[in-house]
Amino acid sequence: MAHDSTFYITTPIYYVNGVPHVGSATTTLLCDALARFHRLKGERTFFLTGTDEHAQKVADAALIAGVPAQEFADKVSGRFRECWEYLNISNDDFIRTSEPRHQAVVTEVFRRLQASGDIYVGKYEGWYSVADETFFRESEVKDGKAIESGAKVEWVSEDNYYFKLSAYGDRLLAHIELHPEFLQPETRRNEVLAFIKGGLRDIVVSRRNTGWGIPVPDDPSQVVYVWFDALINYLTATGWPGAASWDSLWPADLHLVGKEIYTRFHATLWPAMLMGLGLPLPGTVLGHGWWLVDGEKGAKSKGNIPTPQEVVTELVSLSGASPEVAKDALRYYLLRDISFTSDAEYAQSHLLSRYNADLCNKLGNLLNRTLKMLSQYAGGVVPESGAERTADGTLATLSHEIVQDVERCMLAFDPGGALASIWKLVEAGNGDIDTTAPWKRHKAGDTQGVADALYAALEAVRIISILLTPLLPHVAEVMRQQLGLSEMPLGDWAHETRWGGLASGMKTLEGQPIFPRIDTKTNSQKQKELTTVTENTLPPPPPLLDVPEAPPAPTYITIDDFAKIQLKIGQIVTAERVEGATKLLKLTVDIGEETPRQILAGIAESYLPESLPGKKIVVVANLAPRKMRGLESQGMLMAATDAEGHAILLHPADPDAVRPGAQVR
Ligand code: MSP
Repeated sequence: MAHDSTFYITTPIYYVNGVPHVGSATTTLLCDALARFHRLKGERTFFLTGTDEHAQKVADAALIAGVPAQEFADKVSGRFRECWEYLNISNDDFIRTSEPRHQAVVTEVFRRLQASGDIYVGKYEGWYSVADETFFRESEVKDGKAIESGAKVEWVSEDNYYFKLSAYGDRLLAHIELHPEFLQPETRRNEVLAFIKGGLRDIVVSRRNTGWGIPVPDDPSQVVYVWFDALINYLTATGWPGAASWDSLWPADLHLVGKEIYTRFHATLWPAMLMGLGLPLPGTVLGHGWWLVDGEKGAKSKGNIPTPQEVVTELVSLSGASPEVAKDALRYYLLRDISFTSDAEYAQSHLLSRYNADLCNKLGNLLNRTLKMLSQYAGGVVPESGAERTADGTLATLSHEIVQDVERCMLAFDPGGALASIWKLVEAGNGDIDTTAPWKRHKAGDTQGVADALYAALEAVRIISILLTPLLPHVAEVMRQQLGLSEMPLGDWAHETRWGGLASGMKTLEGQPIFPRIDTKTNSQKQKELTTVTENTLPPPPPLLDVPEAPPAPTYITIDDFAKIQLKIGQIVTAERVEGATKLLKLTVDIGEETPRQILAGIAESYLPESLPGKKIVVVANLAPRKMRGLESQGMLMAATDAEGHAILLHPADPDAVRPGAQVR
């Protein structure tokens, strides 16, 4: 820690022009895991998140929604708060840049930097990207777009206030040199070094006041530039400058952010502002990569990335797991697979694969089979003197190493590495049971052998539950419940991770599967792929064990499966009988394409051909063409079946409101 009083960790504050998605949730969950870890270590911890409200794109979104900007910001900020509550995020504060406490601090910072000469008046003429809320130089723009992000730029010409960023290049370089832990990972530090060495220019820190933002002190014609305003939130939350205890929080130990806001803002502008104020710099600024969806950055504006609620709901319906378990399964996937050094592809199939392979088949299996055997062979009671008898065994030795490695990962801000390490212990637990084969020992009457094997497995499970406490808090709690430990107060990390903590004579509960297996047979094609992945990577099922079977998963399809079906409004142009076929009609249907489609439909017993032209109906537009009676059918009409089995066509309720080709969802 940069100071010894409180571990202070922050997420970026999120723009309120769109709702939270699994990308924003990832940064928040990473911070949550780290904050929970430090609390478990017994340290005072302060975890801050919140919303960034004074962006031009927020004002634009409010305009489109037809509500005042503040009302819009209130609403969307509320969505972030709800989403973090839904995900059991343990933040200690939630800051909004529209709060008076923040406005006061921004005003104070502006005044102080004006007084010291770091902020001065100038005229800006150049490019601005609203999507990035960033000023760009000529060399950073090509064909009307910012090269870095591909976002559209506009030319602005305004009288503004400038911050003397150019004066801080050398001091920043010196600080980075002296504090190798300051900018992480190393690749991003190198990017920052190149950015600063390329020459820093003074930066515009105000914009014309169009009614949204914090007014520049004594100049209401201007508002503070949104990034200058936003970065200060980290300081506001400490109570600076007035609160007596602000310096027990400041400097922050960790600012965790996505890579697009790393170099320019968190690693350059913010530290320079702090230097200007004479305040110490944060301990570490850490940047992670993006979730890509089909190779592109996942963003709510593109509609290509789901919300956490959508993912959890789907996982619950596919697996039958409880919502709280599904939330932890999402945590597991996001924390395990996000990368700090590169980008990662977000895909539902990867999540499901992690769920079945790692959670259900490895962790769930270890817990279930251990408790099941304990109940079958030892009445569910923790064996006598297990702690001493197993202290030098394979699992005890490995567990000691894994605890150290997990601690190292968490101190290095790497929850994904910690999970990978914990799973080595999970796998070893399963492997140890396979080798010690308590069922064989039981058959052979080796009571002591059974007791030792089971104690070792149980103790490994208990330690795993402790290691998982900051990472998968609900799952860890359920594991402790099943081990019969939920009434026992949780001690601190060092105490709880020591081998032998499970007391002899304690009664465990009959385990219930936490992660019902996703039944790949009753689910869609996507899960068929999943079967291949998991079956290939799985160890053989545990022998001789009567592990309770998961209830069959309901036969739902996913929204992605549904999205594969293209439904469109069609308008029937012509209809005629097909010679020699009693049921078929040959139709031509306009579905908004250049020429109408020829579609054969089995509706001749329900409709006279002459009654059909002009009718609007629903067409499956991406069905592979097929031949019937020598004629090609290029689609299918949607119809219900009446009591006599006749086809009844589906029509839009308000046919005049929709054109041929309109999408049906
Ligand atoms: N308001 C600024 C931050 C100001 S901090 C003083 C901002 N907000 S944002 O709403 O755009 O959120 C950006 C953050 O959300 C990213 O830095 C990252 O942490 C997270 N993510 C948004 N999309 C993401 C992905 N596709 N993948 C991973 N994280 C993503 O920038």
